[in-house]
Amino acid sequence: MSSTASSPVRSLYVHVPFCAQKCSYCAFFSEPSSGDQINRYVGALIRELELIASDLRPETIFFGGGTPSLLNLKQWEEVFQAMDRLKLLGAEEFTVECNPATVSLDKAGLLREHGVNRISMGVQSLDETLLDRLGRVHSREMVFKSYDTLRKAGFENVNVDLMFAIPGQTLEVWEETLNEAAALDSEHLSSYEVIYEEDTALYAQLKAGEFDVDEDLACAMYETLVSRSAAAGFHQYEIANFARHVSEGGTRNAKLRAARFPSLASKHNLNYWRGGDFHGAGPSATGYVRGVRTKNWSNTQLYCEQLEKNRRAIESSETLAPLARAGETAAFGLRMVAGWQFDEFLKTTGFDLRNEWAADMDSLVANGWGQKTEVSFQLTAQGLRFADAAAESFLRTHEALA
Ligand SMILES: C[S@@+](CC[C@H](N)C(=O)[O-])C[C@H]1O[C@@H](n2cnc3c(N)ncnc32)[C@H](O)[C@@H]1O
Ligand code: SF4
Repeated sequence: MSSTASSPVRSLYVHVPFCAQKCSYCAFFSEPSSGDQINRYVGALIRELELIASDLRPETIFFGGGTPSLLNLKQWEEVFQAMDRLKLLGAEEFTVECNPATVSLDKAGLLREHGVNRISMGVQSLDETLLDRLGRVHSREMVFKSYDTLRKAGFENVNVDLMFAIPGQTLEVWEETLNEAAALDSEHLSSYEVIYEEDTALYAQLKAGEFDVDEDLACAMYETLVSRSAAAGFHQYEIANFARHVSEGGTRNAKLRAARFPSLASKHNLNYWRGGDFHGAGPSATGYVRGVRTKNWSNTQLYCEQLEKNRRAIESSETLAPLARAGETAAFGLRMVAGWQFDEFLKTTGFDLRNEWAADMDSLVANGWGQKTEVSFQLTAQGLRFADAAAESFLRTHEALA
């Protein structure tokens, strides 16, 4: 979803920077909150939405965090009233991230009434010991209860987030979690291997030698994830993302498109991985509009102060040269199982993968990480496991303008 000078941006990300407590692995910008701080943030966010609304007609909206479900009913009502006034409601896909500890039937009902039609629930594990280890505020029981609440409120599109290769997690415990998660029968599953981010408690424990990373076990867990999710009826469409596909008939072209992405794939994330434009609002949010990447201040107080002066809270802004931008788009798109159709890449970026990236593709084919056809290039199952490393050579970052 690229925007031209005259057409508005069709995708919106909103960052909600509050959490009940910080999880031991998490480096996303978020902090414990007080009611007053959240009220002030809501006022500033509305001001920011006012500043960008004329360049937005969102088809996908994603409220992420942090923990958007921490906002209370009154705060959500204020946000929705403003979005209604600014004509930002009515997106085809409107996702809100929820933590199982902060879901109530009233809140879920309010979200549903205002057009939120997809919930992404941070579950991470269904093992109590591991939930504790991760510093999660919820129990496994709360996951099942919140999931039922979401269904009662009418949500028919729910994503469950899981993590694997958690220190102390055995293959058996992972299999059990996957089986229980599959039994929930959600429409979507995201599952990430633990990343040891600097400045997190888990990273400090790793550096202190409290545990070791077992790469072989992590690989076995990934393989189990791929096979179990397929057995449960999910289609993998990105390294960490799996969705159900509901066939709706339609034209041959529609069917072909569906075959490349399951129908319940996250449309918002597909736009990211396809190099589309999006506006970002909220502290630390990034945006990418007409070749310019922006990043808001990762400081809620500063964010609020700027917006209270009617200014956007942008910390940095970078214009990418066309080739650098295309390189990033190439690398992002390779995270998708479908990889790139050459004509689609050309249409999106103005560059031909078969020219600029011919050698990169050939070397991935030679080491078994890539496969090339007449019309497309994608990573093999093995390449996908190491997608970030595989895609790195496609970057052309030296082409970035100041
Ligand atoms: C920003 S969190 C949002 C979900 C919500 N805040 C929650 O945790 O309940 C998005 C997802 O990223 C994943 N994630 C966050 N930090 C991670 C890390 N260090 N390694 C792997 N996955 C991580 C988790 O699965 C998490 O659910
Ligand atoms: S994982 Fe989610 S709940 Fe935990 S600190 Fe990060 S954003 Fe907050």
